[in-house]
Amino acid sequence: MTTTPASPRADSVDSAHSAAEAFLRDFHNRLPGRQSVNMEGAPSADGRTGYQLLAAEVAGARRVLDLGCADGALLEVLAAAGAEELAGIDLSEAELAFARRRPALARADLRQGRAQQLPFPDDSFDAVVSHMALMLMNDVEQVAAEASRVLAPGGRLAVAVGGGSVKGEAMSLFLEIAAPYFSAVPPERSLPRLGDRRTRTREGLDELLTPAGFEPVSWTTVVIDMGGAPEQVWESLTDAFYDLAALDENQTARLRTEFLAAAPFLLDTAGRIPAGMHLNTATTRLR
Ligand SMILES: C[S@@+](CC[C@H](N)C(=O)[O-])C[C@H]1O[C@@H](n2cnc3c(N)ncnc32)[C@H](O)[C@@H]1O
Repeated sequence: MTTTPASPRADSVDSAHSAAEAFLRDFHNRLPGRQSVNMEGAPSADGRTGYQLLAAEVAGARRVLDLGCADGALLEVLAAAGAEELAGIDLSEAELAFARRRPALARADLRQGRAQQLPFPDDSFDAVVSHMALMLMNDVEQVAAEASRVLAPGGRLAVAVGGGSVKGEAMSLFLEIAAPYFSAVPPERSLPRLGDRRTRTREGLDELLTPAGFEPVSWTTVVIDMGGAPEQVWESLTDAFYDLAALDENQTARLRTEFLAAAPFLLDTAGRIPAGMHLNTATTRLR
């Protein structure tokens, strides 16, 4: 979408976007199918996963597009809920290869590409969804404009974004222990800036979405629990935090040792530690 940059500033913004997308694509090409395993094992208080909560927000929609669909876990839930025409787009071909193996998605239109440049005609969906992906996207105004373009009049948009860890539980503990490791990463190893902070708040999303023709969002927050045995929680945290990609093997091993040494005080009688994360869901429709 971005063509010749108009100024040096636009040039550097554009290359930051490309660096972020290249990082995400490479990360997911190396480790496909990992996010969904964690999320499918992370129920909210009523037992539903983030995928099921988001699918409920667009119940009845016949044609649904998932932005940042990865291995198709949300699309599979949508198929089970009765959506008939499913499409997904993701930066990572390896994630999409996993999605293509799901029998429920045999007829889904799965594309490698950017949510900022959707390869779909105008007015072609009743709903657009995105689970834990919008918050990683740059140039979000363009994503909003594209979602608006491909939605039919009155079409719905439902996104789930991370809302931070539950204090006093394992994800918080991990972040406390990891903070000095992450802040010591030298500039040459540091990650590109991912996403736009406005996608993480209700006000920010309204600021991004209303110019694209959407109504103010409805906003819901739940806690999903990625808890389990300490080793298992460590594994899911290592999949959940991109920042770990900036650490070398020794640093990761030291962080793991520190985390596993600190985690036992959280153990319950079943040998499990809780690892809650807030999940925010924003739902809106075209005006
Ligand atoms: C944290 S994963 C979430 C995957 C999936 N939605 C889920 O919850 O299981 C984020 C996904 O968004 C994709 N992604 C990030 N930025 C994107 C963009 N601009 N266009 C398309 N996909 C993107 C990544 O490749 C990655 O697969």
